[in-house]
Amino acid sequence: MQDTKRRDFLGMALGGVAAVGAVASLYAMKRSWDPLPSVVSAGFTTFDLSALQEGILHTVEWRGKPVYILKKLANAQKVEGRDFEVGGALYTVGIQICTHLGCIPSFNQASQEFACACHGGRFDASGVNEAGTPPPRPMDIPPFKIDGTKMVLGEEGQEYKALLEVKKA
Ligand code: FES
Repeated sequence: MQDTKRRDFLGMALGGVAAVGAVASLYAMKRSWDPLPSVVSAGFTTFDLSALQEGILHTVEWRGKPVYILKKLANAQKVEGRDFEVGGALYTVGIQICTHLGCIPSFNQASQEFACACHGGRFDASGVNEAGTPPPRPMDIPPFKIDGTKMVLGEEGQEYKALLEVKKA
């Protein structure tokens, strides 16, 4: 009788240890399959467009590059192939790297344009290079997706594809 109880107890204890070990090893395996947090954040950057104020440039890092997002002024003209609408407001996005030789242009809030200090390059608020200045083309648009008021950099959504279509036409 005593022996039976002891065997039952040992059996349950060993079973418990085995179950804990199995859960721990499954957890360890899952952790090794999952991408590192740094990889996830390097691939996608998400932020809320509703936090932006008109005419004030917001810069985030995406895959090691500076990306600007600008909610354009209410009286600004829509630049086809560069601007998109969310909730009735115009936004524009681009990789803030000069297409001349790769410097980082700064944004002048008063004039709503970018100026590159390296060789005098200029871009308008939508990232389009100004004629007569060194940059040969507009700043690049990163792939992005709009999900409600959230922008996800790194995914190709319909707004991004629509901008590309205008560029091709
Ligand atoms: S790198 Fe910007 S103008 Fe030359």
